[in-house]
Amino acid sequence: MHVLKDRGFTHRTPSEITPAAVYHARREWLARAALGLAGTGLASFAARDALAQAPGKLAALPGARSAVPGAMVMDKATAYADVTSYNNFYEFGTDKSDPARTAGSLKTRPWTVSVEGEIKKPKVYDLAELLKLAPMEERIYRLRCVEGWSMVVPWVGYSLAELIRQVEPTGNAKFVQFTTLADKTQMPGLRGGSLDWPYVEGLRLDEAMNPLALLGFGLYGEVLPNQNGAPVRLVLPWKYGFKSAKSIVKIRFTEKQPVGSWERSQPSEYGFYSNVNPQVDHPRWSQASERRIGEDGLFTKRRPTLMFNGYEAQVGQLYAGMDLKKFY
Ligand code: MTE
Repeated sequence: MHVLKDRGFTHRTPSEITPAAVYHARREWLARAALGLAGTGLASFAARDALAQAPGKLAALPGARSAVPGAMVMDKATAYADVTSYNNFYEFGTDKSDPARTAGSLKTRPWTVSVEGEIKKPKVYDLAELLKLAPMEERIYRLRCVEGWSMVVPWVGYSLAELIRQVEPTGNAKFVQFTTLADKTQMPGLRGGSLDWPYVEGLRLDEAMNPLALLGFGLYGEVLPNQNGAPVRLVLPWKYGFKSAKSIVKIRFTEKQPVGSWERSQPSEYGFYSNVNPQVDHPRWSQASERRIGEDGLFTKRRPTLMFNGYEAQVGQLYAGMDLKKFY
């Protein structure tokens, strides 16, 4: 690690600090310190902000700023503390606070992902191979949960398309199915019957090939914390969060459309596509607006939900001519 000594403060060089939010928070704090404001209320607020934004103590996983169109949203990033403590990962319990508490039991090494089905080059990938398969990029994505809340997260990973190109899908490959780990010895939530395990999700092949579809290995410049789907997960920013399967162990290319876990459990509520769509309500609630995590003040307004979560320019053409009320 390169270390700069600057007016008595020790900090890493900017090139090593991936997330812009962290970088700016620290810059602001240093600037205040230089102005002699350190120790005043203002400075300590900024310092506390920086703490909430800063990553934990996991292995560093920096990524170069992504050049994929739409990959770097300008919204303020959700605090690291919120991203890593308000989670849906039913294998570790159904409460938002359960995964951060219980996912410590997840063993992420050794880890393999079996890539199989309608491809010319089936292969069991070791995690180390996957980590080296393509350059790591930082992508700042909005993620909208079907429950009506959203976050903005600086992810680290590369386009799923990089892996798909390597395994060479055959002409029969029309869909991709993702299966995630289901191990009772590591996952206390499997004892509860909240879903059929393992957790399964699927995409159409052209959706999976869209450069925004991210194979994620990290967030905030570090490897994924277990509760966020370590060691490898999907991040599909234009779809409701449940499509972004965590802790993936198998990727299978198929001719037939796969059935996801949520679709199987409640087909009238969760469809195969599950694109974020403010015009198609969930049968039990509106999808027109959302609560951005971290903006929970008494007078804070909900944000209007955007078509395809704001990624219409990048993914709209995938659904041209489809009745999105039917294909929800
Ligand atoms: N993946 C698995 N294996 N199990 C889950 O319960 N929950 C999904 C998705 N991926 C889930 C999963 C849901 S509902 C959401 S909103 C996102 O993960 C949450 O990701 P985050 O906790 O990193 O924000």
